[in-house]
Amino acid sequence: MSRAQPILPGSTIGVLGGGQLGRMFAMAARRLGYRVHTLAPEHDTPTGQISDVEIMASYDDLDRIREFARGVDVVTFEFENVSAAATAVAEEHALVRPNGRALYVAQHRLREKAFLTERGLPVTPFAPVASEADLVAAVAALGRPSVLKTASFGYDGKGQACLGPDDDPVRAWEGLGRQEAVLEAFIDLEREISVIGARGVDGAFSHFGPFDNLHRDHILDVSVAPSTMPAPLVAKAVDATRAVMEALEYIGILCIEFFVTRDGAVLINELAPRPHNSGHLTFDACRTSQFEQQLRAICGLPLGSPELLQPAAMANLLGDLWASGTPHWASALADGDVKLHLYGKAQARPGRKMGHLTALAATTDQARTKVLAARGRL
Ligand SMILES: Nc1ncnc2c1ncn2[C@@H]1O[C@H](COP(=O)(O)OP(=O)(O)OP(=O)(O)O)[C@@H](O)[C@H]1O
Ligand SMILES: [Mg+2]
Repeated sequence: MSRAQPILPGSTIGVLGGGQLGRMFAMAARRLGYRVHTLAPEHDTPTGQISDVEIMASYDDLDRIREFARGVDVVTFEFENVSAAATAVAEEHALVRPNGRALYVAQHRLREKAFLTERGLPVTPFAPVASEADLVAAVAALGRPSVLKTASFGYDGKGQACLGPDDDPVRAWEGLGRQEAVLEAFIDLEREISVIGARGVDGAFSHFGPFDNLHRDHILDVSVAPSTMPAPLVAKAVDATRAVMEALEYIGILCIEFFVTRDGAVLINELAPRPHNSGHLTFDACRTSQFEQQLRAICGLPLGSPELLQPAAMANLLGDLWASGTPHWASALADGDVKLHLYGKAQARPGRKMGHLTALAATTDQARTKVLAARGRL
């Protein structure tokens, strides 16, 4: 297939990964009349439930990836830790968007930080850790508190350890399996924000956000839009997002998580080469959702307007809510401005993202109050 030709409705999109991001993407794709195939190592996944075809295979099974790519017009991701070998095989048989290099950079914290630093983009002060000697030197250089993170395969705060004044760094590293890691200075945060960029085949750029994000136990808890951050800082975050996407010749959706310090620095925490939890509110609150935008971008269609139609707030629903039985869905929905999204996951484990609520209101404060009240009624 030619790179210039749009991939039109009726074509088939391949999604690597089976989670909620793929599920909401598949909903958007089906609404526009596309077919969706998904590949993940489980059966009856959140994405698979919405897809035409669900293939259960390991991301390392290159024969199955090849066969999968042959059966679709374009491959995209909802799971970013697909190996470079797997994306290379897919690229032989289908368009792969975003490209394999973008994934390769974003899936490894040290590669990501090197890429950003080379381009003069500000990151959290850090040091690489591959040995005990590195670790001792890193702690001496960055001080405490600091945060030790595995270089790859971290999510929702997994693969992280905080080093306080009394913690033994070597024990903390052992707790992470002595894997290649990065030590980061602990940032005194004024706030955390994210920007979700979209870049089309023709290089057109558009963005959602920034969103103001609140984390609990290192897991995203609540996102609101619009952000109350001053305009000059918003511009820094949006410019950085565009610069990263251009440097990676990116096609699709990329989220950047930022730390904003009390002295006004806007540091890149990490890149997510896909739609992002902080953008779930775009489904209900924006003219185009992040998922439809991903579809438009990877299919070579014009991007949709990302305009926020109303202030909104999103609250995650973690498996912990099921501890004393099924949550009281009807009570949460008693407020007609609240929307419920559930991901079709059978097992509610503590910390597992099961769904989210979105509330729309006249102001972000009201939206936040509404969404938290609705969650409280569950
Ligand atoms: N250096 C730091 N200084 C201060 N807070 C930090 C630092 N690193 C991480 N945190 C806190 O922990 C959260 C999760 O960290 P990070 O984004 O690196 O992990 P993750 O496991 O990749 O999370 P996710 O995939 O859910 O975004 C951050 O959003 C922030 O609240
Ligand atoms: Mg993060």
